[in-house]
Amino acid sequence: MAVAADDIRDRQRIIWDHFAAGWKKWDAALLGWHGPFGDAVIEDAWLGPDSVVLDVASGTGEPGLTAAALVPEGQVAMADISAGMLHVATEKAAGLGLTNVSFSVCDAAGLPFEDATFDAVLCRFGFLYFPDTRAALAEMMRTAKPGARISAAVWGRAAQNPWATLVLGALVQHAELARPPAGMPGVFRCSAPGFMARLFRQAGLVEVTERTVSTDLVHRSPESYWEFMQDIATMVALGLAQADREAQALIRSDVFQMLGRYEHEGAVRLRSAATIVAGTRV
Ligand SMILES: C[S@@+](CC[C@H](N)C(=O)[O-])C[C@H]1O[C@@H](n2cnc3c(N)ncnc32)[C@H](O)[C@@H]1O
Repeated sequence: MAVAADDIRDRQRIIWDHFAAGWKKWDAALLGWHGPFGDAVIEDAWLGPDSVVLDVASGTGEPGLTAAALVPEGQVAMADISAGMLHVATEKAAGLGLTNVSFSVCDAAGLPFEDATFDAVLCRFGFLYFPDTRAALAEMMRTAKPGARISAAVWGRAAQNPWATLVLGALVQHAELARPPAGMPGVFRCSAPGFMARLFRQAGLVEVTERTVSTDLVHRSPESYWEFMQDIATMVALGLAQADREAQALIRSDVFQMLGRYEHEGAVRLRSAATIVAGTRV
């Protein structure tokens, strides 16, 4: 049975409020790892120094905070459903001395902005979690000016993302996980090649491009990777919490054994690939 959009939104809000502490703890690691994906999203948004920008599902502030430094005569509005995640973004903005930023706790499908406000809309790893991707994109388009760019990142295919599949695969093998109903949020929900470009074209965007950007998730030890995943990867942490102690021990042991294959030059290096999609509002 389909899960109601409001239930998905409420659950996402609770989950991300809970994980905000983990995202704050690992902020430097996340900035480094996700940096190339945010840079690509910004590059495809064609910002100018006075651009007025919206960052949807901004979380702890990226790519909005990076964009704010690039638009010194412009503004960046950051929107997210989780007050906890956005609170970390406000702290970071203050620490960076940014004054051209604002924050709104809201749903992507109900943005509190006037029509045709923004020169560019950014969204990094947000579409994975919206109950209705079309409704969220329609809101981005409504609030974007004609000629504005909408630029987003989602995770690429599972085979290109061992950083996630290593633990998720072990979870499936050892724990009786409830299968999520179709259309539920998930890390690989938008990963089929062409999925995002089709969504953008069907919504009426033009000059649509889709490309893959890859980088490595690097940790100094298997223990560091394991701790990081439990603190920031919602699907992993929630899946582990469902497993009993025996299954948890088996999952950990399998993951540590497999990590041996990914150790190079004294560090664990796991491939991570995202799809960057962008289009122009007519
Ligand atoms: C993986 S985090 C990405 C955060 C940030 N953009 C980044 O790349 O570091 C996903 C974010 O989506 C937000 N989110 C989930 N559902 C949402 C919704 N319906 N509307 C707005 N934000 C939502 C979560 O609160 C969370 O902050």
